[in-house]
Amino acid sequence: MIRKGIILSGGMGTRMSPLTKAVNKQLLPIYDKPLIFYPLSILMLAKIKDILIIVNKGQLNQYKKILPNGNRLGIKLTYKEQDSPKGLPDAFILGDNFIGKENVALILGDNFFYGQFLSQKLMECTKLKKGAKVLLHRVANPEKYGVAKVKKNKITLIKEKPKKFFSDLAITGLYFFDNKVIKFSKELKPSKRNELEITDLLNKYKKINSLSADYIGRGGAWLDTGSIEDFYKTSNFVSAIENRQGFKIACLEEISLLNKWISKKEINEAIKFYGKCEYSSYLKKLI
Ligand code: TTP
Repeated sequence: MIRKGIILSGGMGTRMSPLTKAVNKQLLPIYDKPLIFYPLSILMLAKIKDILIIVNKGQLNQYKKILPNGNRLGIKLTYKEQDSPKGLPDAFILGDNFIGKENVALILGDNFFYGQFLSQKLMECTKLKKGAKVLLHRVANPEKYGVAKVKKNKITLIKEKPKKFFSDLAITGLYFFDNKVIKFSKELKPSKRNELEITDLLNKYKKINSLSADYIGRGGAWLDTGSIEDFYKTSNFVSAIENRQGFKIACLEEISLLNKWISKKEINEAIKFYGKCEYSSYLKKLI
């Protein structure tokens, strides 16, 4: 059972400059809440309560204003600063002590997941005991992503931004690893663009025949919010669903309440914390 999770929430956000010059991308709004709420909600839906948030230097105080230690959500949040974006596998080098001897899930701070049966799927993924597992999603433009070819649930080929088509299954930003991930990450050498590459890390698991795949399925959505265009598309998606159906996506307190990690008391505290706003009105309705 995976009980620990990491959110990689640093990065330069170059593609979204100048928006990201003063504020980290994950603190910018996707419709009615900061982007970081969405990946955090995914880990919470997977029943992961012990979470490390990796942020870039200089942004720690900003994060703590909106997400302090997690007490109010019945979870434990710890933070670690990353000096510079050294690549996704750096999460496991920085998170070495946090992970300890356990298995771990990693979610990218700018990835958005939504869909029916998603919670069940996540719970299945956290059962991972050995090896690594990625979540795949069919996309129209695979040349923009890391892509995988699959045979009988085992991945046989992965390539970053392939120029020649071989599969339309993109590797999303949610990964599940056994404890070997620390050792494997430490063995990686920086690539030509001077970053540790997640593809290289996944290839290490593939080499020992331990890289498996699961699917979000066509009833689910996966959106990468890296560019301004995609950022606003995601925001519009959330706005459309929330306004149509009257419930919120990624309301952290709601998930905690459903998981029975908190009670009415913490919801009332949250209402005080957020102040008079639409989010608070929604919380009031919950209790
Ligand atoms: P990227 O999209 O690769 O980088 P970015 O968000 O900084 O954007 P840009 O390419 O426009 O500069 O990163 C994906 C996610 O992982 C994003 O949420 C930032 C985070 N990240 C880190 O926290 N540390 C890192 O070293 C890297 C590479 C990414």
